[in-house]
Amino acid sequence: MSRTPLIVGNWKMYKTVAETRDFCLRLKDEMAFTKGKQVEVAVAPPFTALSAAAQALRGSFISVAAQDVFWAESGAYTGEVSAKMLTEVGCHFGIVGHSERRQYFHETDVSINKKAAALMKEGLIPILCLGETLSERQGGSTLVVVERQTRQGLKGLAVQDPQKLVMAYEPVWAIGTGQTATPNQAQEVQAFLRKLLAEIFSPNMAEGVRILYGGSVKPENIGELMAMNDVDGALVGGASLEVKSFAQIVRGSISP
Ligand code: PGA
Repeated sequence: MSRTPLIVGNWKMYKTVAETRDFCLRLKDEMAFTKGKQVEVAVAPPFTALSAAAQALRGSFISVAAQDVFWAESGAYTGEVSAKMLTEVGCHFGIVGHSERRQYFHETDVSINKKAAALMKEGLIPILCLGETLSERQGGSTLVVVERQTRQGLKGLAVQDPQKLVMAYEPVWAIGTGQTATPNQAQEVQAFLRKLLAEIFSPNMAEGVRILYGGSVKPENIGELMAMNDVDGALVGGASLEVKSFAQIVRGSISP
């Protein structure tokens, strides 16, 4: 089974509504080269700009992702946003478990699991992020950490269609640092994750689920990362904020 490359731009807390609209309109033009090519593209603006992004991207193949979600359907949860609200503004994907959320907002594998379940229930596709810290890597526990994050993050999720789940391996030490994992480091962990998916779900799921790499992805390194068997795309932070560099990354993800 061949997996269609997926490139997602995680904007974090950048871009206003006006900037989002401008970016998305320019991105649509810039993406003309993808016509007839196998690639999927999404952008993840802040909550406030999701609707503007969806409107500006209407009629294009580019979809919209939320950067987070809350697990309850509704209720007294000041500041939170439900999966249904994300669907209403045009989201297709939802990122959960980003390391910045784990670090600054004390998210746990348990809360991340509930969020992934809430997205799936609503028909949205979770992009489950995981990855080890530098000290975990140096201590030799990378695979133990990502296994725990995967098993707990996916616990109890009944998913049979590999298109309904995306994983993102993002070593924490590579995020926003300019220090990308080597292609072999990414491949080692991502091949391991794929084996785990076979155990947790089925060989068919493992074969079909896209596993993205994230952490200082740039136009210069996307090619070598995508050359790895188990790297099916990228979750891009810094380099997704400029139309040109994001478009170059999309270009670099397409197989020749
Ligand atoms: P970066 O961020 O590309 O700026 O390293 C990646 C991410 O946080 O998803």
